Amino acid sequence: MQWIINGLVREADIDFRTSLLDLLREHLELTGTKKGCNQGACGACTVLVDGERINACLALAVQYQDRSITTVEGLGHDDELHPVQQAFVEHDGFQCGYCTPGQLCSAVGMAGELKRGMPSAVTVDLVNTDIVPSHDELRERMSGNLCRCGAYNGIAAAIASTLATEVSS
Ligand code: FES
Ligand code: FES
Repeated sequence: MQWIINGLVREADIDFRTSLLDLLREHLELTGTKKGCNQGACGACTVLVDGERINACLALAVQYQDRSITTVEGLGHDDELHPVQQAFVEHDGFQCGYCTPGQLCSAVGMAGELKRGMPSAVTVDLVNTDIVPSHDELRERMSGNLCRCGAYNGIAAAIASTLATEVSS
């Protein structure tokens, strides 16, 4: 089987029951993506598939063959951090850092959702697709990504500082 991961074709001979998360970590040595709960509750395993964020622990790798998968290793380019990664550094958006790869991928995916005008559970105006990335919107949209050491203020500040750039890119 083969997948397109961070722009490269990757192949592995795996059991059909292998999760996308285990494919990445155990078979392709892409250990940036973290395994927290392994049951869809923490967001540590968040990756992007065709730009959409998903929980890799709940996805079967076999389902995502020939799709474009981006992990935290693929966010930056040419030794340059992605703007969201840089903002996390500048705003102290992590303590232990275990949740950080998932937070980063989730933030990038969320920026795409805002750009496409997708409403969240707290969006008041469901007709207007020009959604203001307010404090409440950001926190609601990132609520699937837990940080047990409580770096939420730094995470929110980092995402807010980069979102204008991301949304318009
Ligand atoms: S490890 Fe996938 S959501 Fe927790
Ligand atoms: S920085 Fe997220 S769990 Fe510690």
